[in-house]
Amino acid sequence: MSTVTVPLGERSYDVVVGAGARHELARLVAATVPGARLAAVVTQSAIGVEVDPGVPVVRCEVADGEGAKSLTTVEDLCRRFAEAGLSRGDVVVAVGGGVVTDLAGFAAATYHRGVAYVNVATSLLAQVDAAVGGKTGVNLPEGKNLVGAFWQPAAVVCDTDVLVTLPEREWRSGRGEMAKYAFLGHAVAEGEVPEPLELLGLALDEQVARCVAVKAAVVAADEREGGRRAVLNYGHTLAHALEAVGFEDRGGRSGGLRHGEAVAVGLVFAAELAHRLGRVDARRVEEHRQVVVAFGLPTTLPGGVEPANLVELMRRDKKAHHDLTFVLDGPRGVELVHGVGPDAVLATLEAMERTS
Ligand SMILES: NC(=O)c1ccc[n+]([C@@H]2O[C@H](COP(=O)([O-])OP(=O)(O)OC[C@H]3O[C@@H](n4cnc5c(N)ncnc54)[C@H](O)[C@@H]3O)[C@@H](O)[C@H]2O)c1
Ligand SMILES: [Zn+2]
Repeated sequence: MSTVTVPLGERSYDVVVGAGARHELARLVAATVPGARLAAVVTQSAIGVEVDPGVPVVRCEVADGEGAKSLTTVEDLCRRFAEAGLSRGDVVVAVGGGVVTDLAGFAAATYHRGVAYVNVATSLLAQVDAAVGGKTGVNLPEGKNLVGAFWQPAAVVCDTDVLVTLPEREWRSGRGEMAKYAFLGHAVAEGEVPEPLELLGLALDEQVARCVAVKAAVVAADEREGGRRAVLNYGHTLAHALEAVGFEDRGGRSGGLRHGEAVAVGLVFAAELAHRLGRVDARRVEEHRQVVVAFGLPTTLPGGVEPANLVELMRRDKKAHHDLTFVLDGPRGVELVHGVGPDAVLATLEAMERTS
């Protein structure tokens, strides 16, 4: 078991990673929310991960899927908190993937103008990404994550044992984010930056801890996303465009891409674009492919997507401020690059291999 600290001054907290880490929950709650007399455990019926926060529990189930990440669910949760008598000094415990941690975190941020919460991340994506960093929120019909708050957890638990029940598709989605972190090693280390391929050779709990350490370093440098934190969107500009044209997987049934799979394609695209712009050499592009392939993820654009349409969607990406902005690799590592020429973007997309 290992502990990664997210160093944020008085909002600092520990992320405990490893097999059986969920059994640390009571200790973490006692240490970080010592006044808690009641815990509201927010989870989903399919998850089935039992936790003991060391204080009496009121269990609050939310529905599965992105549709549950709504203001309506937040109202339901807060009403259940109130009915149960959850007070300012008590604690919310999120037990689930990113949908649950985003929802429970946002409910905790607003209930009584802010109560403590602890994330027990049960999906790989939540362990390496969603549960760490304090971004909480819900969707509106007008767009994803449009309403939210920065509200840091008091602690995070990433128990790799609970991943045994995670569906294969969700593993793939989490591995897409892991592939992203393989290229962000410069965020944690100056000089001796770990090679991207090194991540592949580590045991799962070490891989998760490495990814969390990268996220912690980036968040510590830019808690409220003023700039540096944008590197966490590596591979995401194309991924969001692919999701917008309907290639996202809805409910695991279609042949579409799960978020992390879209990120994987986005990483290969970003490397190709950086190469075309003279920022990285062909060897670095090959490294991107190797990591993505080794994680069992796609490198090709879905057949049927129109490159010009993707360029237009990427222009509207929320990071872009109406020009084409990408997170790109280069001599200083991965960074935000504004004002990329549309011709280079289009040519890169057109040169990419297609899935038939
Ligand atoms: N706040 C952030 O910084 C941040 C970062 C990345 C993603 N997100 C958000 O995270 C969400 C995606 O998270 P996700 O990929 O974890 O999806 P998710 O929460 O929907 O979980 C995926 C599926 O796996 C199930 N599941 C979770 N743990 C399980 C387990 N141990 N065993 C069996 N089934 C399990 C869930 O019930 C769900 O059906 C999105 O809403 C995204 O916006 C937030
Ligand atoms: Zn992502």
